[in-house]
Amino acid sequence: MSILITGGLGFIGSHTAKLFHESGLEVVILDNLANGRRENAQWGTVLQGDIADVPLVRSIIRQHSITSVLHLAAYVQVGESMVRPDLYFANNVGGSLRLLEAMTAEGVRQFVFASSCSVYGNSGSLSAHEEDAVTPVSPYGESKLQTERILPWYQRTFGLRWLALRYFNVAGAKDGLGEEISSSVRIIPRVVHSGISDETRLEVFGTEFSTADGSAVRDFIHVDDVAHANLKALSHVRAVDAGEVLNIGSGIGVSVLQIIDEVSKELGSRVKYYPRLPRPGDPAHSVSDISKATKLLNWEPVASSLPNIVGSVIKSARSRLNV
Ligand SMILES: NC(=O)c1ccc[n+]([C@@H]2O[C@H](COP(=O)([O-])OP(=O)(O)OC[C@H]3O[C@@H](n4cnc5c(N)ncnc54)[C@H](O)[C@@H]3O)[C@@H](O)[C@H]2O)c1
Repeated sequence: MSILITGGLGFIGSHTAKLFHESGLEVVILDNLANGRRENAQWGTVLQGDIADVPLVRSIIRQHSITSVLHLAAYVQVGESMVRPDLYFANNVGGSLRLLEAMTAEGVRQFVFASSCSVYGNSGSLSAHEEDAVTPVSPYGESKLQTERILPWYQRTFGLRWLALRYFNVAGAKDGLGEEISSSVRIIPRVVHSGISDETRLEVFGTEFSTADGSAVRDFIHVDDVAHANLKALSHVRAVDAGEVLNIGSGIGVSVLQIIDEVSKELGSRVKYYPRLPRPGDPAHSVSDISKATKLLNWEPVASSLPNIVGSVIKSARSRLNV
């Protein structure tokens, strides 16, 4: 009885694979290294290949007695998806379909899917609920929503047990497994990188939103809290005939300027930033209501305070950059 983690060499996948391994689960990772890191191949059996390769996935399922799948593999950049929607739909929707085809053919019925808060589009919610309208504003968000929508049909027809986890902004690092801050497009690594090196110019898109300090407010969740949510979700689909969408966030709104303040405080020097106009479609707020997940999974975030997230990113960046 093993679990297949697709995309297990990526940011969330590596933290999750480590936790699963430490929890005594047999882990098999399938990653095509489109964005994964070889040095993350430390836990379980690691195989290089593509989720869309049905014969390969079927043979992995048989050979390793896979009973459940945590599906993290995807292209993940909203901006890139705006210029290459073809790649995003092919990999994120087409790839998910091929994976489900292989699972169905081999009788694997337990499925946890990494969805995203980007399905909510720019609704700008202070407390996004799973029942809210979903109106993605990028091919990336649309690809996640389309995949979510396939799942109830597979439940009905093939008996799939599934949970779709709508992660909010996953951040932080543990055990040296963080993101590469010099190339990350996410706000916390970018602020830390600007504070640590002079290489980057930190731009803040939107400083006149209708928020307390004028900058955009987002919901950040520590990657270790996400790994624990994945573990609970896996137990849930193993035990119950599930079929639910769940928000996985901290439920706390943090502004971009608060992040800059926190990073400046931790580094002991002011991080300089350049105000820019908001990007089209960027909402003032995007914060989750996590009451459904906390109740259903008996899970809650414990590592997602801003100081803890920022401190962990700085620690990981310093150990990588040797500064
Ligand atoms: N990081 C976040 O803030 C966030 C937020 C919401 C949702 N998510 C979702 O969580 C998942 C993991 O995100 P991440 O931040 O760890 O990204 P990541 O890019 O670090 O990890 C994705 C992994 O999938 C692999 N991959 C991509 N296409 C593949 C394919 N066809 N076959 C095999 N492997 C493939 C990549 O090589 C990479 O290792 C993604 O599905 C993403 O959409 C992430």
